[in-house]
Amino acid sequence: GAATTSTNKDLFTVNSPNVVYTDNEINTKYTYRTTLVNETADGKFEAIPKEVLYDFKVDRKIPKTGMMLVGWGGNNGTTVTAGIIANRRGLSWDTREGPRAANYYGSVVMGSTMKLGTNAKTAKDVNIPFQNVLPMVHPNDLAIGGWDISGMNLSAAMDRAGVLEPTLKAQIKKEMTEMVPLPSIYYPDFIAANQEDRADNLIPGSKASLAHVEQIRKDIRDFKAKHGLDKVIVQWTANTERFAELIEGVNDTAENLMKAIENGHEEVAPSTVFAVASILEGAPFINGSPQNTFVPGAIQLAEQHNAFIGGDDFKSGQTKMKSALVDFLISAGIKLTSIASYNHLGNNDGKNLSSHKQFRSKEISKSNVVDDMVEANSVLYAPGEHPDHTVVIKYMPAVGDNKRALDEYYAEIFMGGHQTISLFNVCEDSLLASPLIIDLVIIAEMMTRIQWKAHSTDGATTKDFGNFHSVLSILSYMLKAPLTPPGTPVINALAKQRAALTNIFRACVGLEPESDMTLEHKLF
Ligand code: NAI
Repeated sequence: GAATTSTNKDLFTVNSPNVVYTDNEINTKYTYRTTLVNETADGKFEAIPKEVLYDFKVDRKIPKTGMMLVGWGGNNGTTVTAGIIANRRGLSWDTREGPRAANYYGSVVMGSTMKLGTNAKTAKDVNIPFQNVLPMVHPNDLAIGGWDISGMNLSAAMDRAGVLEPTLKAQIKKEMTEMVPLPSIYYPDFIAANQEDRADNLIPGSKASLAHVEQIRKDIRDFKAKHGLDKVIVQWTANTERFAELIEGVNDTAENLMKAIENGHEEVAPSTVFAVASILEGAPFINGSPQNTFVPGAIQLAEQHNAFIGGDDFKSGQTKMKSALVDFLISAGIKLTSIASYNHLGNNDGKNLSSHKQFRSKEISKSNVVDDMVEANSVLYAPGEHPDHTVVIKYMPAVGDNKRALDEYYAEIFMGGHQTISLFNVCEDSLLASPLIIDLVIIAEMMTRIQWKAHSTDGATTKDFGNFHSVLSILSYMLKAPLTPPGTPVINALAKQRAALTNIFRACVGLEPESDMTLEHKLF
């Protein structure tokens, strides 16, 4: 369809005494209903419905927004940039299967819909594009920039990535050639040694320093000024780093982390330096790779500065399937007993992950994704009991960006029987990750324009409007190892993650959570 832009008027309005539209805001009163549970002395439960009244305030003015990618010259960075340019210009190109046109398939925001309600006349569902639920930035309007340790211009880097068709690349070559990544910081110990020959575009210094933080802050400010932007979102889509060691006095608090950066401590990763710079600059920072960028000190720094962060590791292929399939199996009452996950890929990500320490980051991020679903089912699993779970990743240059993921799910069914499910998932890795990069930017930006205030009888009342917590767990749907506010549970189940996103956005305009009860079709 034709590209919509930020000039679009609201597709719907809510007609309710609880929702008031002004030129600049949507003001909503929303009653959040949950259930509190007490355990009784005889080992039973007492469930008590609870209500909290919230005021939500949504800033309707769509800001001019920029997206800065760390690792801009990589497969994801070049592919998402090319994709946005192609969409912006409404391009189509020839392939051996006929003409193809730019689209945003794979983006929840741009490619999926939400049920608004039931048509008052026909009683049929009315579904609207997800992008119209709230006044969100359109990806076509994003200014794009970023950093890379490889100084190749984006056109050459897009060729290096080997993801897109030549007939498309030819049409965007000029624009892409003019895009050149800013020099970046490179601390060789954090990524695989096999990446060294790419590192030709560097800010001097091979360990953390305040000068690095300042340079990145300046880069963000300059980018903002150059494109006349209101806001910048920074996203790490650079190589997977090894985990940083968590050391008391080094990265445990915001103050210690800042000191460690000043002293050039060797356990401060480049990604953490980018996170710190973004936090200090008030730019939301999202980590698309598995490493522990958000050491406790970085999270505390974000909280102190009321800055937004999100992570970790894009959930694009194998893990996305896993978080849907395992949710289904366990919710169906089937006892999953093992998952064997094998991958081979031939892109630069695969090359980097062929080094053990970087693979280890990915292995950790891929391994914990079924914990919440297993733990929630005390009928199938005893406390502490887990399905066996193995993750293997191999580098196979010949397949390029066409990643292969093979999964075997083995489960126990009725009366000692077994069910084995084998999956073989083949796709261009970067074509799955790119729409997630877009969703993460758009949703993170939206979250900077939503404020809340609580009215309650039990102490939860707040006087002033405040932001959501710095750690944006609402981004979980797009992420393999979702970061959540310290001390709060992690949700991996895909359907729950989507419901949280949809229903929080609905609540902001005074709509009840999406309910699939459809009593209107059952009681008459
Ligand atoms: P890539 O290797 O093609 O791109 C990474 C880029 O980062 C390279 O151009 C490299 O030169 C650059 N780089 C490395 N260190 C840097 C630094 N300190 N500063 C700036 N630039 C730096 O990898 P790809 O395929 O684009 O993936 C990027 C990241 O996203 C990887 O960590 C990968 O694990 C993660 N990821 C990718 C998924 C996917 O493609 N489906 C899914 C989940 C995560």
